[in-house]
Amino acid sequence: MCMVKVWVEKLLDEPELYILRLDDSEIKHFEAAWSIPEGITYNAYLMKVGDAVVLFDTWKGEYTEKFLESLSTLVDPKEITHIIVHHTEPDHSGALPKLLELNEYRAKLIGTTFAKNLLQGFYGDKVVENFHTIKDGEEVKIGNRTFRFITVPWLHWPDTMITYDVEDKLIFSCDAGGGYGIPEAIDDSDEDVVKKYLPYVTKYIVTVIGHYHKYIVQNIKKLKELGIIENANMILPGHGLIWRKSPTRIFEHYERVGAGIPTKDKVLVIYDSMYGFVEKRMSVVIEELKRYGKKPVVYRFTDKENPAISDILGEVPDSEALVIGVSTYEADIHPRMRCALYEILDKANYEKPVLIVGAFGWGGVAGKKVETLISRSKFELVDVVETKGRMTSEDEERLREAVRKLIQWQL
Ligand code: FEO
Repeated sequence: MCMVKVWVEKLLDEPELYILRLDDSEIKHFEAAWSIPEGITYNAYLMKVGDAVVLFDTWKGEYTEKFLESLSTLVDPKEITHIIVHHTEPDHSGALPKLLELNEYRAKLIGTTFAKNLLQGFYGDKVVENFHTIKDGEEVKIGNRTFRFITVPWLHWPDTMITYDVEDKLIFSCDAGGGYGIPEAIDDSDEDVVKKYLPYVTKYIVTVIGHYHKYIVQNIKKLKELGIIENANMILPGHGLIWRKSPTRIFEHYERVGAGIPTKDKVLVIYDSMYGFVEKRMSVVIEELKRYGKKPVVYRFTDKENPAISDILGEVPDSEALVIGVSTYEADIHPRMRCALYEILDKANYEKPVLIVGAFGWGGVAGKKVETLISRSKFELVDVVETKGRMTSEDEERLREAVRKLIQWQL
């Protein structure tokens, strides 16, 4: 039996505003790709303003029945006059077709041209019969409120927009401002809840939006120039916590991740080791890093450990530098590291220094292949130390020297 938790809570009396949140503790792999044992929430919002009833997004399709049940505790679905579609990825739009059926297609949908096109592709023509496509910055009067719609392309798809409630200074931001995890509260009032949640936000940003991370910085700059972030009373995302104690904090966090601002002394060390040859080298590297006051965060692929790539990705943005240790495997990079590197270069491609360490049996290939990949990315190659078989004292000295070079590399 499905045991997911549902929250339906009033957030404000005037305007009358509710959150409908489902805690998806059943999910294992977001987008069938990213391991999230921490789960995720889907947040929709309902506002009653004058004679209008406005719904902001819905939930993932598999929870349609639960969504309609929860919504019906607040309003008869027929009474919904407007549905704001911020982003059409089915974790937010999945329950929409069934809702529109119950609504007898009375509600006006509001979204971007891209959103209309995607909804039509996903759910058919009927769903978009009553769709108003917005222009960037357009204001629409609904009930006794003014809503401004602002496009934020690539946060997370090209269809994406946010809504700014002009009178109440509320930002409905969908994916932007969201995170993985199932926080024990609905908002940021408890600092312990926030501290536990923020690393999941980083992991979410990198895995979901990381490929487009330059757009995070660009779009937040745009919102800042519009002057709506610093005056916001609440940020209401489509995943995770609502921000009302410190509304600007979540976008500051997004900006730091987007720009790859490092945490002092954090060095990310990732390696594979089949029989301990790479591991021995990496223990020298780790020891030397610590000697210089660095704080290595280590992920290893061994015959005992197989860390989730989604967790590794979440560690990249705030690292000062990376050290990558690889075995040569069938004249290539070890398969697990190959996969990890592919995702790092795609999702977490930052201007950070990288040291490569390699070990091989009869031919060193992996180190050179990683070197080529790094050289073609935004990462900066510091050095490659790839040597044969057991680690000799000369190898050890070369490794210590390479770490010193890394330390001097503007860290
Ligand atoms: Fe939460 Fe891009 O959907």
